[in-house]
Amino acid sequence: MSSPDPIPWQEIDSKRFIERGQVYTPRRDEIETTLLELIPAEADEPFVAVELGTGAGWLSAAVLCRFPQAHIIGLDGSPAMLDATRQTLAPYTGRFDLRLFRLEDIDWRVSLSNVRVILSSLVIHHLDDEGKQRLFYDLYDVLEPGGALLLADLVAPTSEVARRAYARAWDAEVRRQSVELMGDTGAYDEFVRTQWNLFDYPDPVDTPSPLPDQLRWLTDLGYVGVDVFWLRAGHAVYGGYKPK
Ligand SMILES: C[S@@+](CC[C@H](N)C(=O)[O-])C[C@H]1O[C@@H](n2cnc3c(N)ncnc32)[C@H](O)[C@@H]1O
Repeated sequence: MSSPDPIPWQEIDSKRFIERGQVYTPRRDEIETTLLELIPAEADEPFVAVELGTGAGWLSAAVLCRFPQAHIIGLDGSPAMLDATRQTLAPYTGRFDLRLFRLEDIDWRVSLSNVRVILSSLVIHHLDDEGKQRLFYDLYDVLEPGGALLLADLVAPTSEVARRAYARAWDAEVRRQSVELMGDTGAYDEFVRTQWNLFDYPDPVDTPSPLPDQLRWLTDLGYVGVDVFWLRAGHAVYGGYKPK
């Protein structure tokens, strides 16, 4: 695989997200539990998993911990994030490969096959509607029969009233977690100051799509068991399975 072009996500965002990701993500523990429960594998089964956009590596680490025979391929467009993932996954040496990738590119998709589960958290919203549909189409071929595409991501509100509800709920979650996890509102104050809440401050690099549309795209492409498994503050866990 040749070295991919730079991604729109900036290294300053990586630094901030490594430090603040757990506070900025509503109830990451619930997202983790939900994703792990949905993986179509027995605890002691060997299988290959792929994570798109590993960030600091918490989700890949959770998969390797829960499934001791699993191997994970972790992809990210940020060298700083891949370094952070490598540190997080140090206890699992020999059970992971980390690669630089550009989400938009096709080459990494065609290089993968026979994958049991493809996971991603807070990454897919960097693709527009067309990009997501093409990704879902390409990843269907990457999965083995019975495999799963499981996504946690920000989703676009379908009305102004929903936008306001998502925005206020996300603020409240970050404020609560700032106090609970960091001991004060400092991380929340930074979330507000940097205008991170894209439901209030849209940014061209963030292009979430409505959840009903994404469920329809998955279904139309042949995924089964397509559903929303968890939803809070404009963040959803959703996905589907390739038929056996
Ligand atoms: C918001 S962070 C989420 C990280 C992690 N999955 C989590 O939930 O904490 C977005 C991640 O996607 C990566 N990313 C963003 N845009 C990308 C792109 N176009 N190609 C490859 N990686 C990208 C960033 O480097 C970053 O690690």
